[in-house]
Amino acid sequence: MQLERLLQSQGFGSRKACRALIEAGAVSIGGTLCTDARAEYEPEGLVFTIDEVAWAYRERVYLLLHKPAGYECSRNPQHHPSVLALLPQPLRERGVQPVGRLDEDTTGLLLLTDDGPCLHALTHPRRHVPKRYLARLKHPIDAALLQALHEGVMLHGEQVPLAAPDARAVDTHTLALAIEQGKYHQVKRMVAAAGNRVGQLHRAELGGLTLGGLAVGEWRYLDAADLASIPYPAA
Ligand code: URA
Repeated sequence: MQLERLLQSQGFGSRKACRALIEAGAVSIGGTLCTDARAEYEPEGLVFTIDEVAWAYRERVYLLLHKPAGYECSRNPQHHPSVLALLPQPLRERGVQPVGRLDEDTTGLLLLTDDGPCLHALTHPRRHVPKRYLARLKHPIDAALLQALHEGVMLHGEQVPLAAPDARAVDTHTLALAIEQGKYHQVKRMVAAAGNRVGQLHRAELGGLTLGGLAVGEWRYLDAADLASIPYPAA
């Protein structure tokens, strides 16, 4: 692939902008300066350096972000910055989008990708990817709350009750639960329907993925083993 096209595919701007970068001497590969924008390179496995920062070529990117509170999962945020502001410009430029949404005040595990079919598959209502949350509740957790969540609660606009069969109390006010759907404000509405209120919400797991040691606001690339644990691409 021509170097200018390759950089364009990785989010470094238009073909013209990438050509200008190359011709300005900002790009090197394997320690050698590359000033020929039309030079051909095999993209797979290529590592290039732009202004001293190394980038590996990736046909598609899959990212795991530890979402802080105070960020919206939208490309066009209304009241708070977008989670995309936490990523480097080239990743934003190549059209990375959140897989599903976490509320502005929810923290925790968020996937992002520029792989349209993957995004569609993971957010499809028929794909039941378990999502595990920790919710700090306003009132103490009691047996009635757990029973309602185990049996299922009816949410406005839904046809069938939604249940969290493994919901359990971690301590007096902390609830651990997993849901498989991704309805609007689902956890908060389920807890409200069961007679309590969520104060803070944190997503700890999605499929087999956890945040590991990722600090709040940090992100990392997902590798093939990570993707296999989501599960993706199995239907
Ligand atoms: N359920 C909610 O209520 N909010 C979230 O952000 C995620 C799940």
